[in-house]
Amino acid sequence: MFANRIRKNRKRLGRWIKRENIHGYRLYDADMPEYAVAVDVYESDKCYIHVQEYQAPKSIDPDRARERLQDALGVIRDLFGLEEGQLFLKVRKQQKGASQYEKLGAGKCFHEVIEAGHRFLVNFEDYLDTGLFLDHRITRGLVGELAPERHFLNLFAYTGSASVHAAAGGAAATLTVDMSKTYLDWARRNMELNGYSGSAHQYERADCLEWLQKALWQHRKFGLIFLDPPSFSTSSRMDGTFDVQRDHVALLKATSRLLEPDGVLIFSNNLRRFRMDCEALPELAVEDISRATLPPDFERNPKIHNCWKIQLQAQPA
Ligand SMILES: C[S@@+](CC[C@H](N)C(=O)[O-])C[C@H]1O[C@@H](n2cnc3c(N)ncnc32)[C@H](O)[C@@H]1O
Repeated sequence: MFANRIRKNRKRLGRWIKRENIHGYRLYDADMPEYAVAVDVYESDKCYIHVQEYQAPKSIDPDRARERLQDALGVIRDLFGLEEGQLFLKVRKQQKGASQYEKLGAGKCFHEVIEAGHRFLVNFEDYLDTGLFLDHRITRGLVGELAPERHFLNLFAYTGSASVHAAAGGAAATLTVDMSKTYLDWARRNMELNGYSGSAHQYERADCLEWLQKALWQHRKFGLIFLDPPSFSTSSRMDGTFDVQRDHVALLKATSRLLEPDGVLIFSNNLRRFRMDCEALPELAVEDISRATLPPDFERNPKIHNCWKIQLQAQPA
């Protein structure tokens, strides 16, 4: 059953993958409840498959779940003809705060994957996520399209993949901000891999919430901002906690004050039940682009992210 579904999905996505020259995509996402895994394919120097097992509900017999997982891994190995070191398994459970970005191993083995002609480093072993959020492929493309001549700000930047798209799209400058040294270094490597170095491309290690306050005092302005915060965040480097549902109004008010008058803010998060409080943001024109930024390989899971295009309301003359 699992093998048939994988074959069917490969067929369904095949033409799109070819036409769009896609090298990283989600092939299967818990399509069948018995096989509660997400399967991501990365075509790099070789084909690598990244499997994430969703934590089974308590009602599922753990022995049966383990058997099914072994079945699924066997099917994937056979269908893709994988050898040792091409298949990676992670367990995905609801995580909060700092633990979601902790290292799993210390292998430091990076592979290169191409997206829209740009090069990105991915790592299958050391972290829960690979370095490239595949569901944001279209969002990053949009950042590239909006970037020409703009000063681009990437907040909660992770591995800087949106900064690469902005630079490639013709941004006049990029500023990549993240709290983690590991991810900021990774972002710099991604940028340099694509030939973007020099003073036009800056990096700052900071708690974005603190950084925003400083940037407001300094009256800094940006023509394009990508804001993709985690649903929850807490760390020793931060005072208190961040909760995207509770704090999004304050976050959007502060971030939008950094926009140039014709600037654009792309805001996204992964909270499945997120509700945007538009009434509390009358100064902003907010457009829901969640559907438009949902790629074909995530259609089965439309709540994977929500995404918004935000601009300052035009002032009456
Ligand atoms: C892009 S966000 C969230 C990604 C994805 N949308 C999710 O929910 O898993 C992940 C990044 O945010 C960074 N981060 C988390 N809290 C932060 C904070 N308060 N200030 C700066 N960076 C932060 C982490 O270091 C990581 O690189």
